[in-house]
Amino acid sequence: MAYETIIVEVEDHIAKVTLNRPDALNAINDQLMTELADAMAAAQTDSKVRCIVLTGSEKAFAAGADIAMMKDKTYVEVFTEDLFGPEIDAINRVRKPIIAAVSGYALGGGCELAMMCDFIIASETAKFGQPEVNLGVMAGIGGTQRLTKAVGKAKAMDMNLTGRFMDAAEAERSGLVSRVVPPKKLMEEAMGAAHKIAEKSMISTMAIKEAVNKSFEVPLREGLVFERRVFHSLFATEDQKEGMEAFLEKRTAQFRDK
Ligand code: HXC
Repeated sequence: MAYETIIVEVEDHIAKVTLNRPDALNAINDQLMTELADAMAAAQTDSKVRCIVLTGSEKAFAAGADIAMMKDKTYVEVFTEDLFGPEIDAINRVRKPIIAAVSGYALGGGCELAMMCDFIIASETAKFGQPEVNLGVMAGIGGTQRLTKAVGKAKAMDMNLTGRFMDAAEAERSGLVSRVVPPKKLMEEAMGAAHKIAEKSMISTMAIKEAVNKSFEVPLREGLVFERRVFHSLFATEDQKEGMEAFLEKRTAQFRDK
């Protein structure tokens, strides 16, 4: 698929996906969502790709779903077409780690898209928000669910009900983002993290992603058993032998995803 609203670059085992609708602050329309879902699925199947970085522009990661596109839609239309549902399902099916590198506005669907990634690295300029309430609607792709799990009820209610933005420092304090860096360092930091992940056994990194995500779905006892069984299963891999041998031989492990 030729992309018009995103840019995909694959280099050194990293797929960098850049949202690219600069005139609308990367507002998410059907085309962008379709292209993004396609690019993510392609990164999942591309054996060269070991980690994905999703980013936007300096001014905006994404300012939300495209309001002009949504304005005249009817209930029957958004319900029957399940607005963005199939594309989001496709993104959620990606098993390789995804890092969101966020600069500027990450609002509404933009904040939700960042939260769909496995972790967020933010520039000091980042602003997160769920301002859908100002439009007479509410968050629709994770803003009441993932945000609550990330920052707790008080802040999630505050942001969803008042529409106020959270700056990068508050987002880091609240557990929404893992690191905050100066704007000029954002991509260096995100790509550095992606390279670190790409060096590991992809069997481990995919298993870790699955296990951490499981913690959101099941009670603790079940999650702990799931984790233990997946940990046990990694002893069936050559990479476990290589990783432990390399440690004991004081050398860098050469993982082969086997
Ligand atoms: C369509 C948008 C847009 C959006 C910005 N633009 N956000 N177009 N949908 N979500 C467009 C503007 O219309 C404008 O186009 C251009 O981008 C630049 O934006 P400005 O508003 O002029 O920039 P600025 O004054 O710097 O303000 C930035 C901003 C503001 C604070 C981010 O644009 C804003 O509040 N945007 C809307 C944020 C929002 O409500 N998001 C939630 C959307 S609903 P022109 O042509 O005039 O230059 C949602 C639901 C998700 O996300 C659930 C889906 C299932």
